[in-house]
Amino acid sequence: MPVIAAPKPQDALRTQSHTLFGTAVHHGLSSYPKALPPWLLYDEKGSILFESITKLPEYYLTRLEREIFLQHGDEMIAMSAQAGRLSVIELGAGAATKTGVLLEAALRRQGRVAYYPIDISQSAVEDAKARLETEYEGVAVHPILADYTRNLASIECGFRAAGRKLVLYIGSSIGNFDPPDRSDILRGLRAHLAPGDMLLLGVDMVKDPQALLSAYDDAAGVTAAFNKNLLIRINRELGADFQTHRFVHRAVWNEPRSRMEMHLESLAAQRVTIPALDLRACFTRGETIHTENSYKFTDRGVRELLPAADFDLRGKWSDEAEWFAVYLAAAV
Ligand code: AVJ
Repeated sequence: MPVIAAPKPQDALRTQSHTLFGTAVHHGLSSYPKALPPWLLYDEKGSILFESITKLPEYYLTRLEREIFLQHGDEMIAMSAQAGRLSVIELGAGAATKTGVLLEAALRRQGRVAYYPIDISQSAVEDAKARLETEYEGVAVHPILADYTRNLASIECGFRAAGRKLVLYIGSSIGNFDPPDRSDILRGLRAHLAPGDMLLLGVDMVKDPQALLSAYDDAAGVTAAFNKNLLIRINRELGADFQTHRFVHRAVWNEPRSRMEMHLESLAAQRVTIPALDLRACFTRGETIHTENSYKFTDRGVRELLPAADFDLRGKWSDEAEWFAVYLAAAV
């Protein structure tokens, strides 16, 4: 029997994500209406552009959430830890720039803390590890390279520390998912936790559409570049011939579905070939590729969502205008 060396996990993920990328693009561009899933936006360039978005004056989400953590982080950690020691897990950690505030609060309480960032981007979690371990004495970072929407078992596999878990699902990342997927993710997460483990959920709230529109279509054009980078990525990775200047970024508030949408609108009738997929995509003038949903929440909605996934609400903090809110819940 031939012996086949098992691929290293990183290599496996890299090959697989390449195939997944092609498959997702093929599916999305041959559907009607055309739509591509938002995780495709985060190649290396896309991740850098997203980090720039979080620093824009119009993009209030990151700023407000960080302020909430700075003001109430100690209380959040105290309510989560109770008697024991706490380990921190983060779903879709990315560069983990806000997490430091919460890790600092955990350090003040218990002196040391283990932190498990889960992300599909190896470079992002490695950078986060290097930065956090240098910046904070007492933080041990154990990156987990996984897609938390498919493989939540990694929460248990990668988990070496004993004690209570605090799972961070912050930055309104949950807002990318339609209501059914959103419930599945929370229920799946709950299945890998023990009663008493905690979830900290950061969500963006429904507000004046004008504020939402400028947050997703900033004056400096960073969000437009983030969106259009997807076409550049498809050109590079799949040999496509998108003429990027013939598409424009559109941000739309979809009131009935309570979500911001990002689209790439074709400025002309045109045809694009994607050799790696053996695919031709035809666009009419004004046709769009729907690239992202960012759902906006109501307090009532979150208070229904959590118990439906067997989480018991324990605390809520927000800015004065209630533009952004952070909910703490315990696994029942
Ligand atoms: C990372 C999904 C929370 O929806 O606000 C920012 C991504 N898209 N600007 C969001 C994003 C456009 C962001 N999330």
